[in-house]
Amino acid sequence: MAKLIGPKKVKTAVFISGTGSNLKNLIKFSKIKSSPVSIDLIFSNNSKAKGLNFSGQFNIKKYVSNLKNSKLAETKILDLLKKENIKFICLAGFMKILSKSFIKNFNGKIINIHPSLLPKYKGLNTHTKAIQNKDKITGCTVHFVTAKLDSGKIILQKKIKIFKKDTPATLAKKVLKREHKLYPAAIKKVFN
Ligand code: GRF
Repeated sequence: MAKLIGPKKVKTAVFISGTGSNLKNLIKFSKIKSSPVSIDLIFSNNSKAKGLNFSGQFNIKKYVSNLKNSKLAETKILDLLKKENIKFICLAGFMKILSKSFIKNFNGKIINIHPSLLPKYKGLNTHTKAIQNKDKITGCTVHFVTAKLDSGKIILQKKIKIFKKDTPATLAKKVLKREHKLYPAAIKKVFN
């Protein structure tokens, strides 16, 4: 007899631009019973993104577009998301800024992970900025995506100590490790 299947998971797309360690982690999370989401699509604006390899590894559809003609490209992505019945989007190391109209189409349904304690250090080079400013604490944040960069409502944050010996590289490694715990926890919180 077929196993009883619980309530359906929310079909989710993950948008990436690079390594995709958060993507891999989210795919693994999505497979556990308590995950409210399933990962059904990987989108990358970078055809060389290492994270695209997880498409083959986990048998998940992928779609690549450099978003150069951004209006047309975004329309195509929206069509695809609709076709695939995607209801939720996780940005994970996605380096492009989505247009207002794209975000409006997924209002309150796009979240992002950022390697700082927002509202501190929006944008790039967060670890360099934290070290240059001699901060003692940094962290990571999962937040809703709005038209204003890294400014939507915060879902969860994790604080991480900065030691004197830390460099941007060691800090990035430490923070990324915590991101892998924070992102699934934030998704659970969103759907609770
Ligand atoms: C993470 O630190 C994320 O917070 C930032 O970019 C990095 C992506 O890493 N936005 P990965 O591609 O998930 O390994």
